[in-house]
Amino acid sequence: MIYSKIVGTGSYFPERILTNEDLTKIVDTNDQWIVERTGIRTRHICAENETSEDLGCFAAQKALEDSGLSPSDISGVIFLTFTPKFRVPSAAVYLQNKLGLPNCFAFDLNSACTGFIQGISVASDMISTGKYKNILVASGEKLTSVTNWKDRSTCILFGDAGGAVVLQASDAPGLRSYNMHSDGSYSELLHINDDQVLTMKGNEVFKVAVKSMGDAAEQAIRDAGLTLDDIDIMIPHQANIRIMQAVAKRVNLSMDKVMQNIERRGNTSSSTIPTALDEGIKTGRIKRGDNILFAAFAGGFTWAGALLTY
Ligand code: ACO
Repeated sequence: MIYSKIVGTGSYFPERILTNEDLTKIVDTNDQWIVERTGIRTRHICAENETSEDLGCFAAQKALEDSGLSPSDISGVIFLTFTPKFRVPSAAVYLQNKLGLPNCFAFDLNSACTGFIQGISVASDMISTGKYKNILVASGEKLTSVTNWKDRSTCILFGDAGGAVVLQASDAPGLRSYNMHSDGSYSELLHINDDQVLTMKGNEVFKVAVKSMGDAAEQAIRDAGLTLDDIDIMIPHQANIRIMQAVAKRVNLSMDKVMQNIERRGNTSSSTIPTALDEGIKTGRIKRGDNILFAAFAGGFTWAGALLTY
């Protein structure tokens, strides 16, 4: 059996920080409401000319350096984004060229917030065939390009970021299990509308998010043949601190085992999990051998869970 292990991680946040106080000048809101309802205090936002592709490239560059591999070692790129600047060529091809990766496959995967789990699952299955050795999975999300700045219930949530990992073939686990699901009948609850901005029925999304992420997390543990006691840390999609708390309660995991970066970063869609993972590793909170539980949900709806031994 060929597993996939993570040999490098990276993240990138744009320089400009938007505080809750800054948001009070744009919409009728206040710091207390935002912190209590979402757990968010600050988020990073792109300069006008910065793109999702740039965010992913900066993060991928760091992940590549972290892995110690050279560009020619990379057999493929999967770029996660639903906010690309161009539909064609893909963001993955932009990254391939920008990082000077010779002769590798490159494609985009658009699954919004579920993108990272889906990306590492697809990459891991490709690696398990023996055909590919090192795959770069990078996310870049400029959510502020689809934010409705007149809607106070959504514009307070989002930030911009890029995250990346390098997955490598390995004899030892690695990605032990994953599961992926979808139900398009929920598409109206959370989608990009005709005005090209994100619109959401927050309350209803909240309920489905807790159930779907909880179920996906439990399935990931079961499918890996492990139990809750084996979990060292959980990294859920960072949509709202109250969703994360409710998911933790549902799977019976204490909050000190839940990694969170939403307070400083906001909801950055497919970048939340890889950036939290990178921050956990770089700060020493996540160590080699740790069992990490991932869970995410996204507009669609789609949802997914995975269990990875770092
Ligand atoms: N500041 C002050 N008051 C506000 C704000 C704001 N920014 N936004 C809404 N309110 C008001 C509402 O108008 C409402 O007032 P009313 O009672 O007078 O009508 C009141 O606060 C309560 O509003 P709710 O929508 O019920 O508040 P809720 O507790 O549900 O929080 C939130 C809203 C934060 C959006 C929450 O529902 C949520 O996080 N939902 C999930 C969102 C999510 O994770 N989406 C993922 C999307 S990302 C992706 O897939 C790309």
